[in-house]
Amino acid sequence: MQDKYLALTPPMGWNSWNTFSWEINEELIKTAVDAMVSEGLKDAGYEYVVIDDSWSEKQRDKDGKLVPDHIKFPHGIKALADYVHSKGLKFGIYSCAGTHTCCGHPGSFEHEFDDAETFAEWGVDFLKYDYCYKPDNIPGEILYKRMSTALRNCGRDIVFSACNWGNDNVYKWIRESGAHMFRSTGDIQDNWESIKRLALSQIGNECYGGNYCHNDIDMLVVGMYGGSINQWINSADTAEGDVAVMTDADKVKSEPRLGGCTDEEYKTHFSLWALMDSPLMIGCDIRHMTPATKNILTNKDVIAINQDIECRAPYCIKQWNNPENVFSLVKPMSDGSYAIGLFNFGDREGEMSLQFWDIGLTTASGRGLDIYDCWEHKELGTFTERFCTVVPPHGCMVLRAKVVKVK
Ligand code: GLA
Repeated sequence: MQDKYLALTPPMGWNSWNTFSWEINEELIKTAVDAMVSEGLKDAGYEYVVIDDSWSEKQRDKDGKLVPDHIKFPHGIKALADYVHSKGLKFGIYSCAGTHTCCGHPGSFEHEFDDAETFAEWGVDFLKYDYCYKPDNIPGEILYKRMSTALRNCGRDIVFSACNWGNDNVYKWIRESGAHMFRSTGDIQDNWESIKRLALSQIGNECYGGNYCHNDIDMLVVGMYGGSINQWINSADTAEGDVAVMTDADKVKSEPRLGGCTDEEYKTHFSLWALMDSPLMIGCDIRHMTPATKNILTNKDVIAINQDIECRAPYCIKQWNNPENVFSLVKPMSDGSYAIGLFNFGDREGEMSLQFWDIGLTTASGRGLDIYDCWEHKELGTFTERFCTVVPPHGCMVLRAKVVKVK
């Protein structure tokens, strides 16, 4: 049953968690589905609509089956999946490798095969599988292998999105488990420091991603501007790797705190995730996007870099005189061109000079690069030996560079 092309390239979609957290319901999800289509996200390649934690009742039924929350989802999950499918999109759901989800709903521990069958019956196409309340004496590796086997034998093609936050050396065993993507980081927060920290944490781990099993740096915060139900999770003082284990008391106690980024920072965030081959799961309220948000999320030149069929992760070249802040990511594309991101993590303008011999192109070869700017959508001309520019603070340039003869 397994479709051999499942998650050939990084999955793209929308997930309810970043903005709505536990406040999800059928009407909300349906309007998000409608927005996926009407706002051009579907046309841009976003495919999965994923409901995150808190979609079920707190108890299984007498037969041990998961039960959709009857107030939030009065028509059940199958009806919602049918709606998603009727719009030409795919439907994703959430469960957990432990006994409970992070919000305290039933997890799939020791129910893996039954739950996989339930998901298949409901028409689920994607499962995000979290790591809260994992029994200490069982290796996570085994639990992800269990659910992967269950999904591969449930009678339906279901993308398996592992979410153990990079714990337990996940890089070493996740591909062999059969998962299609794996979270390598703690939860993202809607602020520049978090974006920076998550991206930097995966520089050096490029070799672990690739076709059919993608390194997931977490969902996008592009376009959130601090607007999240659970801003306490998104606050700057939540340490990376912290897990959102919420009791009802936590929810009451949680106070909104300021978060959010500038459009320049969101553009940099999107460029980093795209170039680093992360799945692109939108996390903002797609029913109310600003023009800038829409422009970022639907940039077809940047998305094409992320969706390149070979999924070759980039390598990093640091700017020699400002290595802490300024660097480029260079990703070899399947058509022979390069995708190049020039990033400035510093708080001041950063000069960047990319030497072509550092990316395999010598002057003696008689070749140069025809360079196209993927954010300005314009040709910049033919360059030999090097490309120099100034990158704004927290900003970036994303280039597509084609090798051409210059003599
Ligand atoms: C964990 C995950 C998040 C989200 C929440 C839901 O923190 O990492 O992405 O799914 O659980 O409770």
